[in-house]
Amino acid sequence: MAPAKKILVGVAWPYCNGEKHIGQIAGAYLPPDIFARYQRMVGNDVLMVSGSDTHGTPIVLKADAEGITPEAVVEKYHTLFIDGCLQMGITFDLYTHTETQNHWDVTQMMFKRHMATGYIYRDTQNQLYDPEAKRFLADRYVEGTCPFCGYPEARGDQCDNCGRLYDALELKNPRSKITGNTQLEIRATEHFFLDMGKMNQPLLDWIYTGKEDWRPNVLNFARGQLELRELRGRAITRDIDWGIPIPVEGVPDTKRIYVWYDAVIGYLSAAVEWANLTGESEAWRAWWDNSVNPDSLIYNFIGKDNIPFHCIIWPGMLIGYNAGPEPHLNLPYDVPANEYLTLGAGKFSTSRGNVIGWNTVLEQFQADAWRYVLTAQAPETADVEFTWQDFMDRINNELVANWGNLVNRMLSFTYKRFNGTVPTPGSLDAASQQLLDEIQAGFTTVGELYNTTKLKAALTEVRRLSQRVNQYLNDKAPWKAINDDPAGAATSVYVALQAIDWLKLLWSPILPHSSEQIHQMLGYDAPLFGRQYTEEISDGRGTHRVLRYEHGAASGHWVANPLPAGQAMREPKALFVKLDETNMHGWI
Ligand code: MF3
Ligand code: ZN
Repeated sequence: MAPAKKILVGVAWPYCNGEKHIGQIAGAYLPPDIFARYQRMVGNDVLMVSGSDTHGTPIVLKADAEGITPEAVVEKYHTLFIDGCLQMGITFDLYTHTETQNHWDVTQMMFKRHMATGYIYRDTQNQLYDPEAKRFLADRYVEGTCPFCGYPEARGDQCDNCGRLYDALELKNPRSKITGNTQLEIRATEHFFLDMGKMNQPLLDWIYTGKEDWRPNVLNFARGQLELRELRGRAITRDIDWGIPIPVEGVPDTKRIYVWYDAVIGYLSAAVEWANLTGESEAWRAWWDNSVNPDSLIYNFIGKDNIPFHCIIWPGMLIGYNAGPEPHLNLPYDVPANEYLTLGAGKFSTSRGNVIGWNTVLEQFQADAWRYVLTAQAPETADVEFTWQDFMDRINNELVANWGNLVNRMLSFTYKRFNGTVPTPGSLDAASQQLLDEIQAGFTTVGELYNTTKLKAALTEVRRLSQRVNQYLNDKAPWKAINDDPAGAATSVYVALQAIDWLKLLWSPILPHSSEQIHQMLGYDAPLFGRQYTEEISDGRGTHRVLRYEHGAASGHWVANPLPAGQAMREPKALFVKLDETNMHGWI
C-alpha cells in the first residue's frame, strides 16, 4: 500500500450570522466531507478543519438586527451550525470558531510577521463616513452599484454578482446600511495594508505551476485577476470595535483586524488548536510546516464568491509569511470551489430571504436523502437550479428505486429464506463472476473520481454499478429459482449480497448513514465510520463548544474484502423513505 498522505481539508469558515441554507451546504460543506471520508477510507491522514467566522460586519449587522450582542449571535448560530453538522454527518476533525485565544494568538503572530517581512505597511486612507450615524462605513455597512458589473446591491468590499473585490470608495451611488443616508462624506483614517502588489509576481508563478487538475472556473478567475497586475495594497484593518485587536502599540481599540485577514488564518490556527487538543502540540506541522512535510496536500473547499480570498489573498499572505526565516508554511494544493445552487430567480441569499434553511429541512428529510440530492445536483462547474420536484424525483426514482429497493429486497429475502445467514456461493458462473469483477473495478474508477473531487461523476458511476446488480437479479430471479434450483439461487443471492457489500463502501462517502446501516445488517460488528462528538473548551477568552471526530478503528476500508459466507445477518430495515405529497412538509 502507498504510504499515507497528509491531507488537510480546509473548509470555508461560515459566517456565524444565521441558519445556513442548502445552497451553502451543497457548495462548501458537503463536498469536503465526502472527500474527507473517502481519503480516510483509503488510509490517508486527513485533518478536516473549519469553524464559525465570528467577526466583521456580517456579525455586527445581525446583532443590530436582533437587538442582541455579537457574542450572543456567535453563541446562537455557532451552536446551530454544529447541530446541522451532527445531523448531516459532516465529520470535522475540529470545528471551532474565531473567538478563541488560540486563533487570536495565531492571527496576531501572522500580523507581526507580515510587519517584520514588510508585507504590511501603515498608511492613511479615505473612507466613506456616515455623518448621521457618526461612523465609518466598513464593508457591509455600505451598499452601492458595482464599479465592474453594475450590480445595484453590491457590498462595500465585494460584489455578490461578479465576485470582484474593490474599495468601498469605488462603489457608485453608495448608501449607508445603518441610516440609508446617501449624503456620505469621505474622511481620512489610518489603517494597516497588506502589500498585495509585492505578491503579484510570486502568485503568478504559483498559479502557473502544477495546476493542471484545478477546476477551470477557479483557475480562470485567479489567473485573470493576477494577469491584470493590478494588485495593490489592501486595508486589512477596519474602524470597527468587533474583531481581533491590532498587535501594535498605540493603535486605538476602535480599530480592529479585517475579518477576511483573520478568517483565512483559521486553516492554520484550527490545525494548531486540534494538535493541542490531541496532546501532541506539534502535530499540526505534518500538514503545514514545509520543513517537516513539503508533500502535504492542502485543499480548500469553498463557494465561488470565496475564490479571490483563497486563490489570491490567502496564498499571498502565506508568501508574505514565507519571506521571513524558516520554517515556512505550505500553500494550498487545490481549491475546488463550487458554483451556486440557485433557487428560482437568483442564488440563495440569506440577506434577501430566498432560502431553504438546512437545520429546518434536516428535521424533515433524511440526512442521506439530502446528501444524495445535493451531490447529484452539485454545482461543480456551473450554477444549478434546485427544485423540490427534482428533489422528490431523485429520491424516489434514483435513491429508492435504484439502491434502496435493491438492498431491502435482497436483505429481506436472504434473511427470510436463508435463515438470516449469508449463503455459501458454490462455484460462480460467468455472469456472476463478471458482475463481481465489474463492481470490484469500481474501487479504482470511483476512487479516482472521489480523489479528484469529481463527486457528481462518482455518484453517477456508483449508481450505474448498482443498476448492474438490479439487471443481474432480474436475469437470475433467485426468488423463483429457489424452488427448483436452490444451489443456483444461493449463488446469485451470495453474489448480489457481495455486490451490495462492496457498493455499500463505494456509496459510503456520499451516503454514510445508510451504508453504516447496511454494514450492520450484513452482520459486521465494527462500525464503518467513527464518532462525532462535541466538547466544551476553556481558554483565556472563555468557554467555547467544538465539534470533533473520533476515528476509532474506522479507516482503511476502501478494499474489496470477501463477504464471509455463513455470516449471521441482523434483521433488515428499510433504508430510505419514499416521498409523496403527504410527507413533503408542504414544500411541494
Ligand atoms: N465567512 C466567509 C463566508 O461565509 C468565508 C470565510 S472562509 C475563510 O463567505 F477561509 F476565510 F475562513
Ligand atoms: Zn459586480
